[in-house]
Amino acid sequence: MKVGIIGSGVVGQVLAKAFLSEGHAVTLGTRNKLKEELVKFRKENPGVAVGDFSETAKSGELIVLATGGSVTADAIALAGIANFTGKVVIDATNPIAAAPPVNGVLQFFTSVDDSLMERIQKQLPGARLVKAFNSVGNAVMYKPGFPGEKPTMFICGNDDNAKKTVTGILSSFGWETEDMGKAEAARAIEPLCILWCIPGFIRNQWTHAFKLLKK
Ligand SMILES: NC(=O)c1ccc[n+]([C@@H]2O[C@H](COP(=O)([O-])OP(=O)(O)OC[C@H]3O[C@@H](n4cnc5c(N)ncnc54)[C@H](OP(=O)(O)O)[C@@H]3O)[C@@H](O)[C@H]2O)c1
Repeated sequence: MKVGIIGSGVVGQVLAKAFLSEGHAVTLGTRNKLKEELVKFRKENPGVAVGDFSETAKSGELIVLATGGSVTADAIALAGIANFTGKVVIDATNPIAAAPPVNGVLQFFTSVDDSLMERIQKQLPGARLVKAFNSVGNAVMYKPGFPGEKPTMFICGNDDNAKKTVTGILSSFGWETEDMGKAEAARAIEPLCILWCIPGFIRNQWTHAFKLLKK
């Protein structure tokens, strides 16, 4: 599959390498192809193409959103709304506010009755959005490698076939997937990022993941 990743930060880079390792053709999207960390990334990962947001969105049969939450709407506008129509779009973003964490608890610019994913879905009514990857750190997004059972990736979205596609990708990346329903479930999935980050901020522990136990 041709994968276009909108966002060249650490998440975009980790997912670009992951999709490439799984045999996909990957374009990593940025506003500045010449920025230092990206030049270094290109040298180390010549198999990943780099494009501007519009080229990246156009080229992707599947698109990943990996930009800062507060600038995602701007990144989508630069990428071109029409370039998302009909495509599976993995939304890895979180609505983290500019304010600092309070005792390790991140602040969001959304409320509990709203989510960034729902706002993005409104901006991209023709896209088949699936929330994924937002509730785990980039270091364990691909082949998480925990001893014992696989960790759980919580996903949601309005299109069942899109969620099937993303579940297949997550399986290949080493995850068990829990489908939590429609886009409104992002109101619960996005705050998992807050919970996930607390051990990091208060005791520098950043390599955990969630597991849904069932019987
Ligand atoms: N860090 C993690 O481990 C982690 C884990 C799960 C989820 N997330 C979420 O994943 C997303 C990406 O995180 P990240 O740490 O990789 O990167 P980030 O620093 O939050 O975002 C980097 C990307 O945002 C773009 N950007 C910055 N300002 C912009 C603007 N004004 N307009 C348009 N685009 C702009 C940058 O463009 P350029 O390429 O031009 O610089 C870059 O591509 C975030 O929403 C984060 O909450 C992060």
